[in-house]
Amino acid sequence: MQFFIDTANIEQIKEANALGILDGVTTNPSLMAKEGITGKDNIYKHYKAICDIVDGPVSAEVISTDYEGMMREAHELVEIAPNIVIKIPMIKEGIKAIHSLSGEGIPTNCTLVFSAGQAILAAKAGATYLSPFIGRIDDTNWNGIELIREVAEIYAIQGFDTLILAASIRNSRHIVDSAKAGADVVTCPLPSILGLLKHPLTDIGLAKFLADHAKASK
Ligand code: G3P
Repeated sequence: MQFFIDTANIEQIKEANALGILDGVTTNPSLMAKEGITGKDNIYKHYKAICDIVDGPVSAEVISTDYEGMMREAHELVEIAPNIVIKIPMIKEGIKAIHSLSGEGIPTNCTLVFSAGQAILAAKAGATYLSPFIGRIDDTNWNGIELIREVAEIYAIQGFDTLILAASIRNSRHIVDSAKAGADVVTCPLPSILGLLKHPLTDIGLAKFLADHAKASK
């Protein structure tokens, strides 16, 4: 399973990259706004800065909702760097754009996915990645991980090669459960990645090893 970081924060991307386990980055307009990045030029420069740090796929989301606008943005975004992936919302015009971009060999990430039916449509259109939002599904009292499991089963039965990218990860347990459910990629905020390190017995055990070593060295 690949690890992407879900942020537009440069420091956090650098910190995750320094761990040596980072495979890519996903962003969205809300995450860009959170960093105070506004205006097309600044947003494109910011994508370039991210692509300069990470070699793997970097998802850049279109803000148009019509086919022509999405295609225009996609063609501009792919000029930024060779590792840009075009993130497109799961709407009718988006499916048309994913199909066209797939035909041009431009990688896509179909975002805002909340059902297995949407997952089938995105795969049929040729999406490279599919982003089910598991945390937001959990927020509505449904089960986001179950959606990952269902889509993984459908894609395996049907032989779709679209990669399942579990998004809207809210905690480290979501990462473990996504791995069990068959996600190909998880995109996570930095605290959820770092949370995987934590276990109280590791801290207690390390403290004891160091204390015993110090005692014996006296
Ligand atoms: O990249 C989109 C996604 O991960 C959103 O997460 O926490 O805003 O639901 P969240």
